[in-house]
Amino acid sequence: MRLAILLSGRGSNFEAIHSAIATGALRATIVCVISNRPDARGVERARELGLSAHVFDHKRYPTRAAHEEDVLRVLAEAEPDFVVLAGYMRLLSAAFVAAFPHRILNIHPSLLPSFPGVDAQAQAVAYGVKVSGCTVHFVDENLDAGPILVQRAVPVRDGDSGDTLAARILEQEHEAYVEGRRIVFTD
Ligand code: GRF
Repeated sequence: MRLAILLSGRGSNFEAIHSAIATGALRATIVCVISNRPDARGVERARELGLSAHVFDHKRYPTRAAHEEDVLRVLAEAEPDFVVLAGYMRLLSAAFVAAFPHRILNIHPSLLPSFPGVDAQAQAVAYGVKVSGCTVHFVDENLDAGPILVQRAVPVRDGDSGDTLAARILEQEHEAYVEGRRIVFTD
């Protein structure tokens, strides 16, 4: 399976996928890594790993469509079977989603449909839920929405901050994304 990874930051989910491929836990190839942020650690790591890495800084484009046009061009050249959002902090247009029907996956650090959007872990702590977690789902044109593939629950502890909860959820994210991929990619 050919995977294209889209990310905006640290890239730990990307690295977890890369490691799962390296150990043979996941049978796939990363055909390209695309970032919308030039300073993303994930894109630097992709280069260190010798992967095809591209930056399209969304701030330099007049419209969302113009930015997506460049991303879609690289994706068309890379011919991925699946587009994997790994901390990609951009809402995809309906046209982008339509270009890869049921072939875009995302991971979100809450039990969707609770707490979509940014700072999901801090939202969970502020609300006072006792259980949160992470969700791997197919992407539709709405924010953090689409058919759910995998969820993992993580207890919220007394005294948790958004950051401490985020760290525990992240450990589960790394396994959940590989598990989600195995479900989708089973050939
Ligand atoms: C993760 O918490 C992911 O669920 C969210 O953004 C964060 C990205 O982390 N969408 P990383 O860049 O993969 O380390």
